[in-house]
Amino acid sequence: MIGDALLIALYAAVGAGAAGLVGTAALRLLRNRSVTLSLAVVAAVTVAAMLAGTLLVSWAMLLSDHDLWVVTTVCAMAAVVSMTVALVLGRRVVKGSRALAEAARALGDDGRFTPPAAAPTAELAQLSRELAATSARLTESRERERTLEASRRELVAWISHDLRTPLAGLQAMAEALEDGVVDDPGVYHTRIRTEVERMGTMVGDLFELSRIQAGVLTLAPTRMSAYDLVGEAIAGVDALAREHGVRLVGDGVDPVPIEVDGREMSRVLGNLLINAIRRTPADGTVAVSARRQATGVVLSVTDGCGGIPPEDLPRVFDTGWRGTHARTPPAGAGLGLAIVRGIVEAHQGRAAVSNVPGGCRFEVHLPAAG
Ligand SMILES: Nc1ncnc2c1ncn2[C@@H]1O[C@H](COP(=O)(O)OP(=O)(O)OP(=O)(O)O)[C@@H](O)[C@H]1O
Ligand SMILES: [Mg+2]
Repeated sequence: MIGDALLIALYAAVGAGAAGLVGTAALRLLRNRSVTLSLAVVAAVTVAAMLAGTLLVSWAMLLSDHDLWVVTTVCAMAAVVSMTVALVLGRRVVKGSRALAEAARALGDDGRFTPPAAAPTAELAQLSRELAATSARLTESRERERTLEASRRELVAWISHDLRTPLAGLQAMAEALEDGVVDDPGVYHTRIRTEVERMGTMVGDLFELSRIQAGVLTLAPTRMSAYDLVGEAIAGVDALAREHGVRLVGDGVDPVPIEVDGREMSRVLGNLLINAIRRTPADGTVAVSARRQATGVVLSVTDGCGGIPPEDLPRVFDTGWRGTHARTPPAGAGLGLAIVRGIVEAHQGRAAVSNVPGGCRFEVHLPAAG
């Protein structure tokens, strides 16, 4: 009895194994074809394995013809049903992946991805989610690119305007001098020098900004005292403050060590101080401070400008932005604060602005010296 059972198992295994081998070879041949075919092969292998096993057993054990006919019919019915199910599932998967391919093509064409209504399998659903995330990232970076491009175009327009106006003036003055129709050439000479200096500063700012934006600003950080840095910056704008009748106060300066590129950070403080002095009315005060905080050091410049309109606060650091009142000469080019932000961020720091009673305060947050 046990011998019979073993023999039956052996014959069935041989039959099923043969069907499995043929099936595997067929799947290999079909690996680049539709998933429907592979599913049909899997269903066919299942039925063929059963049938082959049964036929072998019946041949070896001489089962009656009737029994064999019964088993074969059962297997044939099973084959029809399982093939139908395989075809239905295959069509669903094919339809789902076609819809996904269509959506992916649209993503390539116009950058918009509309995920198909329902994915037939978890894997396709996952792929669809990944594509949706990629599409969102693409849209975001395209948007960023567009605003950057727009601001670059705007900047070029402003800069050309800002350079053309003084150039026209210089030309007129030079011609007048040449023709000898000027009563007091000394005044012209002074004006020419001032204009040239202003344009030189602007070109220098543009150069600095392009180095920052191209990421080629190389810093040479050294350890220094915030006290010295602020002291030097104040000394540098002393004459300008006196000219505007503005008082400079630097008494809130802690002698904290910072690790910065001295030249670049002096430029940051210089830009902030010049802005503050220019926008503070005569008899007003500009205060500078340097404070140690838990996260590092905060340098700040507080002026008496009367406050910046809240809707303008997020824009002041943008390249080329300047307040509407500042359009007439000798307005700057709107580069100073963009340079400030660029240099501060190159130091792993952060530049911020807020309104305070009577004016506004610009802050530079720097990480603590290591
Ligand atoms: N301390 C300040 N108080 C009030 N408004 C300020 C101050 N600093 C900057 N702003 C506003 O932000 C704008 C941008 O400043 P930014 O320094 O970038 O340009 P600018 O001073 O106009 O020109 P540039 O610095 O290139 O000579 C200014 O035009 C001004 O409207
Ligand atoms: Mg400025």
